[in-house]
Amino acid sequence: MASTATALRRKGKRIGFVPTMGALHDGHLSLIRAARRETHVVVVSIFVNPLQFGPGEDYERYPRDLKRDLNLAKAAGADIVFAPHVNQIYPPGFRTHVEVEGFSDQLEGAARPGHFRGVATIVTKLFHLVQPTVAYVGQKDYQQAVIIQQLVKDLDFSMTIRVLPIAREPGGLAMSSRNTSFTADERRQATVLSRALQLAKARIRDGERDPQRLIDVMRQLIMQEPSCLVGYLAIVNAKTLEPLTRLSGRVAILGAVSMGSTRLIDNVLVDVS
Ligand code: PAJ
Repeated sequence: MASTATALRRKGKRIGFVPTMGALHDGHLSLIRAARRETHVVVVSIFVNPLQFGPGEDYERYPRDLKRDLNLAKAAGADIVFAPHVNQIYPPGFRTHVEVEGFSDQLEGAARPGHFRGVATIVTKLFHLVQPTVAYVGQKDYQQAVIIQQLVKDLDFSMTIRVLPIAREPGGLAMSSRNTSFTADERRQATVLSRALQLAKARIRDGERDPQRLIDVMRQLIMQEPSCLVGYLAIVNAKTLEPLTRLSGRVAILGAVSMGSTRLIDNVLVDVS
């Protein structure tokens, strides 16, 4: 991968890169299509990164179907799929990790210690191997997108990060590789997180500026679904991820909900005038 990338860069090709863990859905494909439109050579990585899964999380159960993913990636415009084996990425004796301080231990990071260290480490390695001109990430994982932008800046990668909108199912549920095992009823219940975020957004449009009242309204809606358990609901400055006591500027409303053993995350961005 690294020598291919070096040869492409030497020829002046713009490399568009979409890092993924596979189980591709329309969210991933929207990133691949954007890369196809905007760059010369599109690289998609498929690697279920053990470093970003905590003990008891779903590393073993994470859906894997390389043949299906290859077809989908190709149809969406990928030129190269980079799907390394775990031993190639983390050979015995691997010791170095990347930590983006501050952003990594709150919200998702508080619920999943070490998760973002695993993400930052794999993304750094992949960026070195693929040498992208532009990397495409989803707003779906908003905190991850902020962390990747920070590490690109801090570690002097000469590349651009593009953050693209969340692809959703018709009922509003944010697409995720973890949604595939839902029954019809679970799928309906799972829409409550995006409904709660939309409700908060509407209340802000109506003039509400108190984050705690918005969080209460969202929590009450989510509690109406018997299988849904709130992980966290937060309203933060979209740039710094700092919690707000009063809304102004660009804010991110972020939520995590558990349904059985499945964890859902979602968010909306709102410009508060
Ligand atoms: P994965 O969950 O496979 O997601 C790969 C990329 O697709 C991420 O940038 C994610 O934000 C984006 N994505 C996921 N669901 C989306 C949706 N509904 N709409 C738009 N984009 C969506 O995120 C990871 O993998 C890993 O942490 C990774 C960055 C690859 C590092 O291992």
